[in-house]
Amino acid sequence: MALLDIDNLDVAFDTPDGTVHAVNGLSLSLDRGETLGIVGESGSGKSQTAFAILGLLARNGRTSGSIKFDGEEILNAPPKVMNRIRAERIAIIFQDPMTSLNPYMKISDQMAEVLMLHRGMSKKNALAEAVRMLDAVRIPGAKDRIRLYPHEFSGGMRQRVMIAMSLLCQPDLLIADEPTTALDVTVQSQIMRLLQELQAEFGMATMLITHDLGVVAGFCERVTVMYGGRIMERAPTDPLFGKPTHPYTRGLLHAVPRVDQGQETMQAIPGNPPNMARPPKGCPFRPRCAFAGKDCAVMPPLEPAGDGRVRACHRPVEEVAA
Ligand SMILES: Nc1ncnc2c1ncn2[C@@H]1O[C@H](COP(=O)(O)OP(=O)(O)O)[C@@H](O)[C@H]1O
Ligand SMILES: [Mg+2]
Repeated sequence: MALLDIDNLDVAFDTPDGTVHAVNGLSLSLDRGETLGIVGESGSGKSQTAFAILGLLARNGRTSGSIKFDGEEILNAPPKVMNRIRAERIAIIFQDPMTSLNPYMKISDQMAEVLMLHRGMSKKNALAEAVRMLDAVRIPGAKDRIRLYPHEFSGGMRQRVMIAMSLLCQPDLLIADEPTTALDVTVQSQIMRLLQELQAEFGMATMLITHDLGVVAGFCERVTVMYGGRIMERAPTDPLFGKPTHPYTRGLLHAVPRVDQGQETMQAIPGNPPNMARPPKGCPFRPRCAFAGKDCAVMPPLEPAGDGRVRACHRPVEEVAA
């Protein structure tokens, strides 16, 4: 049985401008210990998928479909159930750690509180465990620095604290939503290396959400590419990067900075993501796709395409005459 099994998930928001269709018929599953990347431009429905899993959607959100976690249906589960799952089994880290850390409490108190509440530890044991976790995320001098407040850490160190917090309850699933987007490039790669080491050490399944394909390459076994609230393509990492066939995936790959041409060149995909209150008919990428044809006015089904790949495209690039 998969650890996480999402089937035909829809997330829609009611707004004064009409209904925003943020996630449309999304299905995916994640095994224990697996690393899955979810990639797509801003607005493609990545975060709302994560929020639906965690039961954290905004009040104007509506959902349908199914999300099973460890066999149990959790979509629209009662708050009591979701509180327990968030505290003990599914952890999330965000781009900005300050959205989860309490600015007025010392790190020691925040971490100890979690352990005393959810793992029934004494204060003394909780503090020792908290220091151990700060050591695990390579915060130098953890024993002393645990007495600091969140703002006394640099951005990168604060993200390490957040990661340590998220691991306190030994989650089965860690969702990292743009965990390095706010950090500068050197710190980004340090944090990604750390996440990779921790994933190997603790073995939790990890869903890494990012707009940056470069970030998932070294980290994930499989990658799901989203656009307009739909899955465009899903494949093991190597074929996805080595032989990109979906026009959108190709576009994303070309938007990754390249340094192999003497200078850094970057070709972003022309145009903008669709307004999800009025999504285009058929494939949402059609208006921006260089390969689109009349048939693309009907949404292509997600179908197996070899190499463990599934793809939703009427005009995959390998089949277009040069
Ligand atoms: N509370 C809300 N009300 C209306 N629209 C929303 C709300 N939250 C998110 N959206 C819309 O849902 C779509 C998907 O958003 P999101 O999942 O956050 O994108 P991303 O892939 O960048 O994480 C976007 O068009 C966004 O504007
Ligand atoms: Mg997001």
